[in-house]
Amino acid sequence: MKTLVLYESKYGSTQKYAEDIAKHSDADLFPLKKFRWKNLRDYEIVVFGGYVRGGNVQGINDFLSHWDEMDGKAVIIFASGMGIPTKETRENLIEQNVLGDYHLRFYQLRGSFDYSKLKFADRLVFDQSIKAMSRDPESAGQANDLDWVKSNPILSYDQERVDYICGVIQKIKIGEAKK
Ligand SMILES: Cc1cc2nc3c(=O)[nH]c(=O)nc-3n(C[C@H](O)[C@H](O)[C@H](O)COP(=O)(O)O)c2cc1C
Repeated sequence: MKTLVLYESKYGSTQKYAEDIAKHSDADLFPLKKFRWKNLRDYEIVVFGGYVRGGNVQGINDFLSHWDEMDGKAVIIFASGMGIPTKETRENLIEQNVLGDYHLRFYQLRGSFDYSKLKFADRLVFDQSIKAMSRDPESAGQANDLDWVKSNPILSYDQERVDYICGVIQKIKIGEAKK
């Protein structure tokens, strides 16, 4: 059963997760933008990982625009963001990215974030989001956390969840888990 791993990454966290999942699952690996969709028919398990920006999983619309071609395949999506994965953040991601309408597995993997390494435009967006959030009493606490992150980089790699996802892929391959 052939496995495909696609990813959308800007600073490398999502790419590293995708590479490791592909390596341990004996899968083919491509950046989403480089994949030739006509080759999708070769695969029975399809994994997509995208980084989170303003609650949106990057690349997901492009990936899901091929949903009809994934009929009968097992589909796994993971999102890499700097937030600590919780049930609530998972539900928010599912809602904001309209994933509830699809039959797929969805996982969160905490990625790294280093403000000092951001591209200028990303710093600008980040700073503006903090400003906007700090004006609203409901999100002021979150703005404080984000402000703290600016001088305290997050270095995160969730080995346990990577192993879990690889285990799920293995189970699908040997027929122990449903597609
Ligand atoms: C402008 C901007 C917005 C972001 N928004 C979110 C967000 O809404 N939720 C989150 O968990 N992480 C957010 N992040 C953090 C990234 O998703 C995180 O650093 C991710 O691991 C980056 O993946 P990459 O290294 O593959 O690019 C944001 C980062 C930037 C620069």
